Amino acid sequence: MNDNTSLDDASIVIAIDGPAASGKGTLARKLAKYLDLALLDTGALYRGTALSVLKVGGDPSDEMDALSAALRIGNADLNDPNLRNESTASAASKVAAIPSVREALLKYQHDFMKNPPDGKEGSILDGRDIGTVICPNATAKIFIIAETETRAKRRALEVFGTGYKTEEYDRILQDLKQRDERDQKRASAPLKAAEDAYLLDTTNSDIEAVFEKALGFILNKL
Ligand code: DC
Repeated sequence: MNDNTSLDDASIVIAIDGPAASGKGTLARKLAKYLDLALLDTGALYRGTALSVLKVGGDPSDEMDALSAALRIGNADLNDPNLRNESTASAASKVAAIPSVREALLKYQHDFMKNPPDGKEGSILDGRDIGTVICPNATAKIFIIAETETRAKRRALEVFGTGYKTEEYDRILQDLKQRDERDQKRASAPLKAAEDAYLLDTTNSDIEAVFEKALGFILNKL
């Protein structure tokens, strides 16, 4: 199962968890660049699994369909622009609720942490369960929080630009609420902060302020 004992304790792992559209991806990218660490957006693994299922007309809630896609995640294109579609995101939160899918993707994540690409000294993983399940002994753990309405506004701006319509915002808000509920209530590795995580509320902060706080916390742990 979750065999963390085989991980190299000497390598740096920074865990960044939080709900959808909380800004954790942007923060993780900035930190990885600044600290020269490898970056893994673990949501892309669930999205990649979901997209593979959708492409063959499968059902993302069906264990056989989802597991066979998860086992082949190494062959998926994790830069496919369709990974960013809201339909893929919604299917991703369905495959993510299946324990055998999580187990299959855990191996990919542990391999990444053990052997960060490009000879990097360590890695940053962003997701939902990095600090709780994937790497409970991470060097530093950050858990991002932001009000749902703020996250919906950010996502609407990202997808539709400044002229987004009320119904577009409403749809995104509804979708985020559903995904939050699925991510928090699932039995297997639900979204929650690790006890030793640094909680960072981004509701009223811009990315620079969030970055400075996160960096200060991480540098104290290195
Ligand atoms: O962060 P994201 O929106 O790309 O994640 C897509 C879905 O994948 C999300 O609904 C929850 C799931 N996920 C997960 O369960 N565990 C992770 N470590 C990362 C993502």
